[in-house]
Amino acid sequence: MRDLIYAANWKMNHSLAESRAYAARFLSLTEPRTNRSLWFFPPSVSLVATVEAFEARADIRVGAQDVHWEPKGAFTGATSIPLAQGAGAVGALVGHSERRHVFGETDAETGRKVKALLAAGLTPLLCVGEKIDERDAGRTDAVVKRQLLAGLEGVTPADLARVIIAYEPVWAIGTGRNATPSDAAAVHLGIRVALKGLGAPGRIPILYGGSVNRGNVLALLAEPDLDGVLVGGASLDPEGWAEIVGIGAGD
Ligand code: PGA
Repeated sequence: MRDLIYAANWKMNHSLAESRAYAARFLSLTEPRTNRSLWFFPPSVSLVATVEAFEARADIRVGAQDVHWEPKGAFTGATSIPLAQGAGAVGALVGHSERRHVFGETDAETGRKVKALLAAGLTPLLCVGEKIDERDAGRTDAVVKRQLLAGLEGVTPADLARVIIAYEPVWAIGTGRNATPSDAAAVHLGIRVALKGLGAPGRIPILYGGSVNRGNVLALLAEPDLDGVLVGGASLDPEGWAEIVGIGAGD
């Protein structure tokens, strides 16, 4: 049985106090499972509180939602990798569609962030995914491959083993629409082939994201090429998220 990863992206939600309350409730509702890892990506101001609250659970990791590739400097509003690491983060999202399409992050910038995270010993969770016009034009595979190759440019095969990928079609994020499990699986397979082409030594986890909820998560995880899920909206309340992480991983 493959290991499953359930990643919660809180986006711009959950203050310090709310993060603490969430964690306490979530911990009371779940137990560690050997075949399951959990990730939480709180806002940066709630990183420390979230890290501390989950400290006793080795199956739970906490990461930043975004990082800058420079270790320090005049980058108002940005979080450096050393700052995130100092707060206890052990990974970071890179190239989330909101960073790409709302804040204008480029493919080249995602590549810098991935390399800087790896150099610092953190796990990059690289997000890729096409927009609706790209899907309608039949360019899904080309767009995903371009983002993947740019994000992983210069990463050694050994370091590839430390990366997690998330396929998140932009048109499915926060919209209530999601790719069918078999559509998602087809893209995951393409990503797997591309990773092999880059010399990836083993199985790199590939998560699916975009309007995942308790009604669709089981069908998605039934696809053997999906290694887990990256979830925004449905991860925001601890009861709902505790239920979702038990689906497919057998709570
Ligand atoms: P969603 O967000 O689950 O609310 O669609 C997913 C994501 O942005 O990672």
